[in-house]
Amino acid sequence: MMGENHWKTAITKVEPNKLLVRGYRIDKLMGRVSFSRVIYLILKGELPDEKTGKMIDAILVSSIDHGATPPSTLAARTIASTGSPLNSALAGGILSIYRYHGGAIEDAMKEYIEIVESGKDIAKTAENFVRRKLETRKIIFGFGHRYHKRDPRTKKLFEIAEELGFNGKYIEAAQQIASSIKKIKGKELPINVDGAIAAVLCELGFPPELGNAFFIMARTPGLIAHIHEEKIRMKPMRKIDPVDHEYNGPLEREI
Ligand code: COA
Repeated sequence: MMGENHWKTAITKVEPNKLLVRGYRIDKLMGRVSFSRVIYLILKGELPDEKTGKMIDAILVSSIDHGATPPSTLAARTIASTGSPLNSALAGGILSIYRYHGGAIEDAMKEYIEIVESGKDIAKTAENFVRRKLETRKIIFGFGHRYHKRDPRTKKLFEIAEELGFNGKYIEAAQQIASSIKKIKGKELPINVDGAIAAVLCELGFPPELGNAFFIMARTPGLIAHIHEEKIRMKPMRKIDPVDHEYNGPLEREI
């Protein structure tokens, strides 16, 4: 019997002893299809090829952690230091991901889409876009970094995109924005990891409103590691200095 509040969902069908994610049996996906491909499946509704899975995997690895200084890490550690449970500390960390930290992906995607979908010459459109933004002192999302001048993650993501055949117009738009900033401002603002992920997600056909989700999915294990370390290594309610800390994990090693 369907009630008056009956509604529909197209994500997962649940039956006794059987789960279908977008039509695929979960026990058939398990052990056979990577988590990254299933992320694409659950978000877009279709199972992608191996290449798309590899690209998403690279995005997730690129943003798994950035040490102890990012706002989300400090927020998560601060909450964990009060004795709050993992879920509270994790939620607090995730709440601090937006516009200026990890959450520039959505806005950057909108910028690239505006440039590419204008249908005009990408280099000229990017230059006009940068000029407009800088003249009105507006932020160009996905560019600039507090720490890195050349973000190694951007370079690698674009290399992988090229190897896998995803280097299309959106990545070109990002690169044209970067060179226009250099030309107009006389100073380099590197494409940061958000800006690079944004370009790749456009190439993969994701809509901007799902962009920041990729940073959140990527950073969740990193935040959990920080929360756990805070709980097992540190005194409760310590004064957490955002800058005065050092790394004492393993030295650089080869995979
Ligand atoms: N768009 C426009 N101008 C920018 C800019 C951007 N994305 N990033 C930096 N600038 C400007 C600064 O305002 C500053 O201008 P000034 O020299 O006229 O004073 C100059 O470039 C140098 O800035 P810098 O010191 O290198 O960066 P910052 O530490 O002040 O800011 C960010 C770092 C990340 C907050 C900043 O680059 C930013 O807001 N980027 C956009 C948001 C984003 O992509 N966030 C994700 C980060 S992973």
